[in-house]
Amino acid sequence: MSEKITAAITGVAGYVPDYVLSNAELEKIVETNDEWITSRTGIKQRHILKGEDKGSSHMAIPAIKELLQKTNSDPMDIDLIICATVTPDFTFPATANLIGDAIGAKNAFGYDVNAACSGFIYSLSTASRFIESGRYKKVIVVGSDKMSSIVDYTDRTTCIIFGDGAGAVMLEPNTEGYGVLDDKHFSDGSGWVHLHQKAGGSRKPPTHETVDQRLHYVYQEGRDVFKFAVKNMADISYDIMERNNLQPDDVAYLVPHQANKRIIDATANRMGLPLDKVMITIQNYGNTTSATIPLCLRDYEDKLKKGDNIILSAFGGGFTWGAVYVKWAYNP
Ligand code: UT7
Repeated sequence: MSEKITAAITGVAGYVPDYVLSNAELEKIVETNDEWITSRTGIKQRHILKGEDKGSSHMAIPAIKELLQKTNSDPMDIDLIICATVTPDFTFPATANLIGDAIGAKNAFGYDVNAACSGFIYSLSTASRFIESGRYKKVIVVGSDKMSSIVDYTDRTTCIIFGDGAGAVMLEPNTEGYGVLDDKHFSDGSGWVHLHQKAGGSRKPPTHETVDQRLHYVYQEGRDVFKFAVKNMADISYDIMERNNLQPDDVAYLVPHQANKRIIDATANRMGLPLDKVMITIQNYGNTTSATIPLCLRDYEDKLKKGDNIILSAFGGGFTWGAVYVKWAYNP
């Protein structure tokens, strides 16, 4: 009988651009204040990618170069690159292809996954199936978003939330029970009305009018999204614990999407986890969409031990949401 193969995370890496946009600086751009932003979201600053002709791949590439180094991997051995993003460099071709070319992954194929803030966990599950098949040995999942390219800096309800960044993980086969052990995802397309980009797609291609009407930016009905996010992210995180017979004591960390500290708190509360078991980076990066979860893993990597049970969960535009149960595969 052949051994069961699981997809182990064998390394993590990330990249955030140098430029820091603080709450104090935002106070000069829109009518807001540090106290409001901090108490309503938990965000203190976000990183912004400046400069001409730099897309999401510009952040994914250094993140992956670091990942290759950390995992001692030859780019020629990479089988697949999945890039989660809602801000691809171009509508087509896929950003994953640009990344593959830049890192010299000549034997890999690649494609993008568009699932907004759930993009990384959707991609992680998809990538895991390739590893579990036994036919793919090294798969990179990267979440990269240049949210500043679609944020309206005259809209105080959205510009305070988002930031730019990239995070990546390497997946490799494991036969000792480490890696992605369970996942459950949902999407509800009726939620599109509450969170979307109104123009630039095939329904409303770009015109002078769509630009003048500022339709190429994130449109969000914050309060509605908040209500769905709190309920669904908390429920799915609890459900994945329950169906894997995990008690709060068995979970080392919740790795939540970083959209709003209040959503994170509600999720931890539903799971019965104290906040010291929750990875929180929102104060530093804001909401980097596809990059929040891998950036958390990068920043907390030193605290993770082989065998730790961690739950990754997210909610985002679509609506999309889900959770992934991972048994961590290596020591710091
Ligand atoms: O990651 C993708 C999924 N997205 C999310 O999960 C985001 C979910 N939503 C949220 O995180 C929150 O809804 C926001 C952070 C976007 C907004 O927080 P809120 O507590 O829901 O605020 P609100 O929209 O209910 O607005 C409360 C008040 C309003 O004033 P009035 O009408 O009560 O006078 C807003 O105009 O706060 C006002 N407001 C602001 N005040 C200062 C809205 N934005 C700001 C601001 N600074 N930046």
